[in-house]
Amino acid sequence: MTTTFPDGFLWGAATSAHQVEGNNTSSDLWAVENAPDPIVPERSGDACDSYHRWPEDLDVVRDLGLNSYRFSIEWARVEPTPGRTSRAQLAHYRRMIEGCFERGLTPVVTLHHFTTPAWFRAAGGWTAEGGVSRFRDYVRSLLPILDGVEWVCTINEPNMLAMISAMLKRGERHENVAGAMPPPDQDVADALIGAHRAAREELAGLPGVRSGWTVANQNFQAAAGAEEQTAQWSHSREDQFLDVAEDDDFIGVQAYTRVVIGLDGPQDPESARKTLTGWEFYPEALEGAVRHTARRVGTAVPILVTENGIATADDAERVEYTRTALTGLARAMADGIDVRGYLHWSLLDNYEWGSWTPTFGLVSVDRETFTRTIKPSARWYGEVARSGRL
Ligand code: BGC
Repeated sequence: MTTTFPDGFLWGAATSAHQVEGNNTSSDLWAVENAPDPIVPERSGDACDSYHRWPEDLDVVRDLGLNSYRFSIEWARVEPTPGRTSRAQLAHYRRMIEGCFERGLTPVVTLHHFTTPAWFRAAGGWTAEGGVSRFRDYVRSLLPILDGVEWVCTINEPNMLAMISAMLKRGERHENVAGAMPPPDQDVADALIGAHRAAREELAGLPGVRSGWTVANQNFQAAAGAEEQTAQWSHSREDQFLDVAEDDDFIGVQAYTRVVIGLDGPQDPESARKTLTGWEFYPEALEGAVRHTARRVGTAVPILVTENGIATADDAERVEYTRTALTGLARAMADGIDVRGYLHWSLLDNYEWGSWTPTFGLVSVDRETFTRTIKPSARWYGEVARSGRL
């Protein structure tokens, strides 16, 4: 059976600044990665050198047949010292936005994707006095370069950020399944909600802009008898962040896997097929996430799939995963859910927050020469995008 997607559907690929640009030296994570005894096994270093090679990356996106690119602006570059905005960095990101327009690509621009300037963390981060207004000031400084951009994501995965904050406070290490993490630090969650609202207020002055945030959807599923535990588990880690979006211009859905909750918490799917991140291979996650999101925020808020993909060394598995995920997405759309586009994570094999091993890319990158090599999955995905058919 052929599945057809609507005309004007956004077909894209996504990245984030810290994961692809390289040498994000003013950021908080650069300091963490380069500490004498770092808590992460590998550093981002030069990453994919996309800070310099972005025109080549945009050419790849266009030549594959995609019509959209999601990337993030790095706060630590734009404001490396408090209150001092770099005009040269603003011009850099404006060139990227115009580079998208010139190639007929719709830019989807994220203003905050996990990293903050080192000075912001040192000053106490989101919950410090003035933390939220610092972010508002940063967003205000970006307004002149966002002219003509339709899709703006304020903060990427605030729920992950708040959960990671809670773990760092408790001195715990990163669990390999996001949804199995301890509940978020509620003060950080509240500050991020405030920061999102502040950003939306600033962006409201831009004609034609749609602003929203992107939430990590974890497909919580109840094991027999654990319906109530699952609802509680999901509320703090996911639903409170979705509910905030009920008046937004769109909501970004990001889904990779599922988490089954039993009476004693998350159940380890030991026997399940796993991906390189250790997550269960579960491409049905996307359909579940889209349906859950639409139930929470209401059908009036359009959905953009801002991330979905798989870490695998077997590129045929990427096609299998993505085909199944898109089939599920089409089913949800056929039931009336308003989905405007699909942005695959990720364009490039990039720095996966501490490690280079989990490869999510449609395109591989030689870490010494930075040569980009298109994988067969990218060609397959480009064909789906060109034809609008699966
Ligand atoms: C993040 C990405 C990350 C991806 C795969 C999302 O949590 O937004 O930065 O690379 O998932 O782990």
